[in-house]
Amino acid sequence: MSPRRAVSAMPSDSSPDRSERVHEILAGLSAPQKTTSPKYFYDRAGSKLFDRICELPEYYLTRTELKILENNLDEMAAHIGPRASVIEFGSGSGTKTRLLLDHLSEPAAYVPVDISSFPLLAMAEELAIDYPQVAIRPVLADFTRPFELPRFARPPDRNLVFFPGSTIGNFDASEACALLEVMRAEAKPGGALLIGVDLRKDPDIIRAAYNDSQGVTAEFNLNVLRHFNREFGANFELEYFRHEAVYDEANSRVEMRLISLRRQTVMLADTPIQFERDEHVVTEYSYKYSLGEFANLARKAGFDFEQAWLDENALFSVQYLTVPG
Ligand code: AVI
Repeated sequence: MSPRRAVSAMPSDSSPDRSERVHEILAGLSAPQKTTSPKYFYDRAGSKLFDRICELPEYYLTRTELKILENNLDEMAAHIGPRASVIEFGSGSGTKTRLLLDHLSEPAAYVPVDISSFPLLAMAEELAIDYPQVAIRPVLADFTRPFELPRFARPPDRNLVFFPGSTIGNFDASEACALLEVMRAEAKPGGALLIGVDLRKDPDIIRAAYNDSQGVTAEFNLNVLRHFNREFGANFELEYFRHEAVYDEANSRVEMRLISLRRQTVMLADTPIQFERDEHVVTEYSYKYSLGEFANLARKAGFDFEQAWLDENALFSVQYLTVPG
């Protein structure tokens, strides 16, 4: 008999089907300013490239957030209390999740929610082995829309939504507010959110983080096109696109772009897409917040601000917000 605990994902009605995704991709690539959703970065190859980004010397975010968690998790766990159900939006590498579960008092459940079954189930299976006392219940869903949580024979004392990594920065203000509202609804009254938020800082530090010297971020960006070729029958020729990441200080956001190096027509799902020479596709925004700006956003989404923990250089923050009631 296998020693592994069987883990299967609960599919949610909100997981989009293929034709919906094709429609979304084509709409983005046909708009006057071409865009693609950052969720298309994370196929198997893209997830591996992102893991490499997290190790880069220039990419301060992961390392700094981890340090903040390591230094403050005792205090965070005291806020959260016992028998929490941890609902993670997205399934990360597992390091931060383990750190959190290790510090919580009697964590009741761990519910990772992800649109892609590969990282979701791989991570859930590993955690199920190492945390036999915790109910591991992955949910296959697009977490930007409301989804149904698994039911438990013994309900947890509190829902804690966990959203590390500053992925909130990849949503514009109205999308971020809508996503925080989904989190508030899933956390339920009396629940809480523990979230990583990247902060405004010296623009040179930010530029370097998205233009690394080894070119891993460039590969990660271009991989979106490879993903479209494989998954959606597109015929992008990667040598005719290049990576660019610019920091727009006025809007406090990094814009990741793919620039077309020539006039070209690309087919995706039997639909032609025209690119002019030097035209760019925005593949991602990465917003950086001041503490005040993020507090306003959280308040607008219905959260009460409780506490923020920062590193010594104030590069990054981990914030604890609660749902009234
Ligand atoms: C996942 N997200 C927070 C990353 C970021 O920094 O915005 C994605 C990323 N894009 C380029 N490098 C990393």
